[in-house]
Amino acid sequence: MVVIAVDGPSGSGKSSVSKAVAARLGLAYLDTGAMYRAATLWCVDGGTDLADQAAVAYAVRGMPLEMGVDPAAPTVHLGGRDVAAAIRATEVSTAVSQVATNLEVRAELRRRQRAVIEAENAPGGFSGGQGIVAEGRDITTVVAPDADARVLLTASEEARLRRRSLEVHGAADASAVEATRDQVLRRDRDDSTVSQFQVAADGVATVDSSDLDFDQTVDAVLAVVAQ
Ligand code: C5P
Repeated sequence: MVVIAVDGPSGSGKSSVSKAVAARLGLAYLDTGAMYRAATLWCVDGGTDLADQAAVAYAVRGMPLEMGVDPAAPTVHLGGRDVAAAIRATEVSTAVSQVATNLEVRAELRRRQRAVIEAENAPGGFSGGQGIVAEGRDITTVVAPDADARVLLTASEEARLRRRSLEVHGAADASAVEATRDQVLRRDRDDSTVSQFQVAADGVATVDSSDLDFDQTVDAVLAVVAQ
């Protein structure tokens, strides 16, 4: 029974690294960013005015969200519809911080995140009670401050922009990186008004992946877990 919390800014590689760590250890995997993205899609598709905080909070409380926690094939379903691709659309990436800085939305999604974590620490969950790796922006500090291992995954701005550009544009040449820059940096700035993920909190280990390849980063996180 174990809980591993991983936080980091966009492009830090935390999703792919957390998935690999979960797969290696036979744990479930929860992408909390996907939950904020799904909440944003739910509001946009439902015609909710994102500037109306009360309306957004009301919509999110009624959101029929199902998170699949198998690290080999994590899923996101909204009302039975597979939205894994739709939540990565530029429209969602651009609007997500507005929804994620709504404090009532955060309270609702944290409640759901803790329920998933608890389910994986009891018999009957995906991991059969083995535990879970949960990743996001406030897992080490607010959602699971008592986690067995807490890691802040960081990388230089240059490395993060290159990675995000490869993900979104399939290229990391100068113009692709520039196209990514504004969105990534603005999102990090907006998100950091409600979550601490730029600097490690007390007791949280920092893994800087700027000069590490993927396997080395996974090993560095596993080393923190083994401590
Ligand atoms: O990790 P990802 O880039 O998919 O996260 C999308 C957005 O979800 C972030 O930009 C942030 O606004 C929000 N988020 C959050 N708290 C978390 C995870 C994500 O506010 N724990």
